[in-house]
Amino acid sequence: MNVAIDYRLDGLVALVTAGANGIGEGIAMAVARQGANVAIADIDAVNGERVAEAVRALGQRALFVPADMTDSEQVRAMVQRVASMFGRIDVLANNAGGGRPVPFMEQSERSWHRHINLNLISMLAATQAAAKVMMAGQRGGTIINIASSEALRAAPGYAVYAACKAGMVSFTRSMALELADHDIRVHALAPDMIDTPGLSPYYAQASAADIDSRDRYLPMRRMGSIDEIGNVAAFLASGMASYLSGVTIPVDGGSTASHGWTRAPGSRGWVLHHP
Ligand SMILES: NC(=O)c1ccc[n+]([C@@H]2O[C@H](COP(=O)([O-])OP(=O)(O)OC[C@H]3O[C@@H](n4cnc5c(N)ncnc54)[C@H](O)[C@@H]3O)[C@@H](O)[C@H]2O)c1
Repeated sequence: MNVAIDYRLDGLVALVTAGANGIGEGIAMAVARQGANVAIADIDAVNGERVAEAVRALGQRALFVPADMTDSEQVRAMVQRVASMFGRIDVLANNAGGGRPVPFMEQSERSWHRHINLNLISMLAATQAAAKVMMAGQRGGTIINIASSEALRAAPGYAVYAACKAGMVSFTRSMALELADHDIRVHALAPDMIDTPGLSPYYAQASAADIDSRDRYLPMRRMGSIDEIGNVAAFLASGMASYLSGVTIPVDGGSTASHGWTRAPGSRGWVLHHP
């Protein structure tokens, strides 16, 4: 078997769900920089078209498809549109997701369903539809599920969101096996603290104490950028990751590693379970 010697994605087609802003935008631009043509599915047409235009400015083809990822019919129609426009799909980034903080004991069943639809059902529908296109093309492919560091630790106030993201990690492993014979590799990323429009309202309100506590648990003492997620996704999509499947990679400035270790206020040293 030929093993790739660079990160290029020339000629490949990447479909990024919720690609109009934030992490999805970072993935769309990172794969485009490596030569991929890009389809973006989102409910935000203004920013979806903006990202598509930015991809075209790099010399790649791009398509924005309006789609509400919580509606499986729309997801299937969107995947069909992408496949008809480009004739293939090589990379699927399942990025649609999100959650609102609420203590579980106060959370309505309607809210459970909203979280599950956006974070899990959207991924199931997109994976099934896009993997069928990959299988029919017989060229293999890559599926990258954007989970969260909340999949790997407790998340009080985000219990249902975290359960969905943990489900995504499990689904990633199962799909890595089910799709291996079709040469489709399946991965998950577990981001933490990425600077996106989704997180900026939270940080606009963050107090100095909040920022200090973030710096105490986050080894790199800063938020990550959307490019830092996009670059890992582009690597996973490339032939340079040809022997990698079923894994979840934390892209989190080291926060998964810190696991209960924090810095004492104003200190450079680490202590376990500092208040
Ligand atoms: N930002 C972080 O630190 C972080 C950390 C862990 C996981 N994540 C995950 O990364 C993904 C992206 O997060 P983000 O911070 O970039 O979000 P964001 O809020 O900045 O952007 C979300 C995008 O999703 C689109 N969207 C929302 N609902 C949609 C729907 N029903 N159908 C289609 N598109 C829809 C929005 O229009 C927007 O373009 C999510 O799955 C999130 O759970 C983010």
